Amino acid sequence: MVGESTEEVSRADEVEHAAGFDSELRRLDVVFQGACDVQARDRVLDVGCGAGQTTRAAARAAHEGRALGVDVSAPAIEQARGLAAAEGLSNVAFERGDAQVHPFPHGSVDLVISRFGTMFFHDAGAAFANLAWALRPAGRLVMMVWQAGDRNEWDVAIHRALAGSDRPIAAAPAFSLADPSRTTEILAAAGFVEIAFTDVEEPVCYGPDVVAAEAWVRSFTCTRALVERLDPDSAERGLARLRETLSEHQRDDGVWFGARSWIVTALRG
Ligand SMILES: C[S@@+](CC[C@H](N)C(=O)[O-])C[C@H]1O[C@@H](n2cnc3c(N)ncnc32)[C@H](O)[C@@H]1O
Repeated sequence: MVGESTEEVSRADEVEHAAGFDSELRRLDVVFQGACDVQARDRVLDVGCGAGQTTRAAARAAHEGRALGVDVSAPAIEQARGLAAAEGLSNVAFERGDAQVHPFPHGSVDLVISRFGTMFFHDAGAAFANLAWALRPAGRLVMMVWQAGDRNEWDVAIHRALAGSDRPIAAAPAFSLADPSRTTEILAAAGFVEIAFTDVEEPVCYGPDVVAAEAWVRSFTCTRALVERLDPDSAERGLARLRETLSEHQRDDGVWFGARSWIVTALRG
């Protein structure tokens, strides 16, 4: 298994809060579901499925097919299984595995989907080749990934508040597929064709109020890492600035930040 030890801990931490993404991403999910356009007989693979909201949606749409969610995190898979069982879905399954190397049967799926689950690969080339292997010829890939950090108001605002400056934001794994040229190269080398990017500009919601939003933002791996790098006084000032920023973004229906992502679509050649 790739990523035992410290990396495994940070993944598990990230996924511990996976259900919170469903609320954060509710506006983006509408766009994502439209792009997936799951058909009744589709065999769907959901990569980095987290708590499985998108896997369950795929299973409901593929009522004569099936959906498989794969995630490297055991707690996420456990949570996903529980939620699918509670909903009484019979055509959905979840497997713990690293999608980069998981032994998917060759040509066994019609559609690979992923909502922000494909940016954390250590070896993106090998990972997408493995997903192409799982797809039947002309099978579809639909994934949602973040655009660059400086195009995402949420990322700029968090870094500005906590680091107290506008210095360039360090590259983070979350933005590893942000560059369309580079991502096209990776997908083409893995055997995908008709690779296309659709610009999605929909905001994320961090919670109903500032208290909930602060707790949510402070649960992010990137936020914790930023705070840990600061001395106690700077951390206190940074968190005060964060609360101020969150309150500036409070609207009647929650604390919202601008966000830019790509819907990336491709076919297995
Ligand atoms: C940002 S979360 C998104 C979760 C889910 N797709 C959603 O939208 O709620 C990223 C997920 O990718 C998973 N992940 C990261 N690397 C992975 C890998 N190599 N194979 C499978 N899952 C992976 C993480 O464990 C995490 O659950």
